[in-house]
Amino acid sequence: MSDLEEVRRSGPLGTVLVIIPTYNEADNVRSIVTRTRAAVPDAHVLVADDNSPDGTGKIADELAAEDERVHVLHRRGKEGLGAAYLAGFRWGVERGFGVLVEMDADGSHQPEELPRLLTALKGADLVLGSRWMPGGRVVNWPASRRFLSRGGSTYARMALGIPVRDVTGGFRAFRAETLAGLGVDTVASQGYCFQVDLAYRAVRAGYHVVEVPITFVERELGDSKMSRDIVVEALWRVTAWGVRSRCEQVLGRRHTGQHEHA
Ligand code: GDD
Ligand code: MN
Repeated sequence: MSDLEEVRRSGPLGTVLVIIPTYNEADNVRSIVTRTRAAVPDAHVLVADDNSPDGTGKIADELAAEDERVHVLHRRGKEGLGAAYLAGFRWGVERGFGVLVEMDADGSHQPEELPRLLTALKGADLVLGSRWMPGGRVVNWPASRRFLSRGGSTYARMALGIPVRDVTGGFRAFRAETLAGLGVDTVASQGYCFQVDLAYRAVRAGYHVVEVPITFVERELGDSKMSRDIVVEALWRVTAWGVRSRCEQVLGRRHTGQHEHA
């Protein structure tokens, strides 16, 4: 590691923006925004709503009117979690935020754990909240969903050859500089795969990625938007990336590591 990299990783974090994508989260949005503002009072919150038919966007507007650190990004319609995050990242980077956080609206990611993620980011380029490491937990998941998530993470880790234990998780803190280096404008993946894509890019680009244990609590209100299609997408993309990376190794065209992406 060069001296310059050392300075970058331990540099000040700047202002934090917590991005919360929403689609039909009317039962959850008020509570998650309030909890987040209480847990990290200096941080700003951006609700990225895809024109939810249940009026989530309107509730978010009310929250924004009550609190100058709460903002709303209204999007045209449902375009998936990945697209909402990309739009949220762009919104935050344009306004000079130093840290961009990904967090679900349904309470699965506990805002009270954010200070721990942000402390870890002081010595890292990217922090991943991890369910599948010592100290990490999942509450209220059926065995089938645990199996899918653990199995998916293990498969992705092996196929891609990256040392990340929870590769699909969606509770993460990025330094703005890290995002800039990932070439996020070319990310096409959605759903779980969006998360795998960003983690894979970060590791390949040589960023210092740190996992912090979290307790993931399954939602009590509203419905999950994850579908079979999303799982299938993750499976084929991860397999394709794995095969491509093996081919490159066999052909001797190894990655130089810096700023390369799909
Ligand atoms: N704006 C927007 N548009 N938000 C969306 C969309 C969309 O198309 N689809 C889902 N969301 C929002 C939800 O409203 C919620 O706040 C968050 O994204 C996660 O959606 P869930 O439907 O609750 O997903 P999940 O619990 O199955 O998945 C979570 O865990 C996965 C790993 O187990 C997420 O954190 C995933 O990113 C993660 O891969
Ligand atoms: Mn959820």
